[in-house]
Amino acid sequence: MAGNSIGKEFTVTTFGESHGEIVGVVIDGCPAGLPLSEEDIQVELDSRIPADPKIVSARIEKDTANILSGLYNGFTTGAPIAITVENREADSSDYEAITNLPRPAHADYPAHVRYGGFEDYRGGGRFSGRITVALIIAGAIAKKLLSQFDIDVLAYTRAVGKVRSDKKFSAREIRKNKYEAATRCPDLVCAERMEQAIVKARKEGETLGGIVECLALNVPAGIGEPLFDSLDADLAKALFDIPAVKGVEFGLGFALAEMKGSESNDPYTMKSGKVTTSTDNMGGIIGGLSNGMPIIMRVAIKPTPSIGKEQQTVDLSTMENANLTVKGRHDPCVVPKAVPAVESAVAVTLLDHLIRAGVIPKVLERKK
Ligand SMILES: Cc1cc2nc3c(=O)[nH]c(=O)nc-3n(C[C@H](O)[C@H](O)[C@H](O)COP(=O)(O)O)c2cc1C
Repeated sequence: MAGNSIGKEFTVTTFGESHGEIVGVVIDGCPAGLPLSEEDIQVELDSRIPADPKIVSARIEKDTANILSGLYNGFTTGAPIAITVENREADSSDYEAITNLPRPAHADYPAHVRYGGFEDYRGGGRFSGRITVALIIAGAIAKKLLSQFDIDVLAYTRAVGKVRSDKKFSAREIRKNKYEAATRCPDLVCAERMEQAIVKARKEGETLGGIVECLALNVPAGIGEPLFDSLDADLAKALFDIPAVKGVEFGLGFALAEMKGSESNDPYTMKSGKVTTSTDNMGGIIGGLSNGMPIIMRVAIKPTPSIGKEQQTVDLSTMENANLTVKGRHDPCVVPKAVPAVESAVAVTLLDHLIRAGVIPKVLERKK
């Protein structure tokens, strides 16, 4: 199974399965001289799972990060950083009954075809949302490094099912409010309605999807490697690597298709001695390069495949139609847990491009 690494200068390789011993990450190319501790990573791991058991899977793990290499005296050394987290709460019993019954919309069937039945299907194996733990660890490091250059990446929930907040949020509001609500929406009134929608769906044996929005602030102009490593292409690639992501748009995205050029173009204007644009319909990227404006992305997340209702499938042992009732512990909505994964995918990709552009050096200056 190839395809487990992303990035050219800041290269992130993840490993592990949902019900295996560990999940983990190796980061190659992290600049030397970044102050880093297990606590920096733990904060991100702790905020991954909303504390409210009503809206998440019953598999609630206290994940503890083990840093195995790449740190000395509290600083990154420039050598590969390896970090693991144990899988403590895996329960594979519910998967035995459905070994030959692929879940609609989950990876079970295509993975079975691709890996000849050798794949570890327990809990979704390599295709499980649990694998995002490794991405979140890499994201914790990337965000810490980016923050030293005043670059901030903020993801939050914009919609759950049909409940959507159209409020404009300031960066301060997002930072302050997003982890207040279990649904990770900074609009706390709407967050409550999102929660109710998830609880209702779960009671009905249903699941919901939604939209995660992400802002990257203070990214300098000129970052990206057009044509084939353009910044939007690489961000979209990293975002599509998160399980359950089915759409990515930048700026006004699909809505641009219905606009006139005079409405969609972002006029240039000088602000505090800097070239800026008075609107940000393009979402901060033009020609595959950042233009210095906030990068705005929206990510569509599909409803969780494992639903409580009976579904039709095919029994792969007899090749006949069969009915399937999925057991096991599942998220009624993936969106809240996808928020830190989106933030991490964006942070890791931006950092990779900032190093490639020479904006972030491979050895950081020692702070006095
Ligand atoms: C954080 C996270 C948690 C997830 N939890 C579940 C889950 O509990 N049950 C489930 O069926 N799918 C879950 N998924 C979605 C599946 O992993 C995903 O739909 C599946 O691998 C198929 O991939 P695709 O949706 O990208 O095509 C989760 C995804 C993420 C990102």
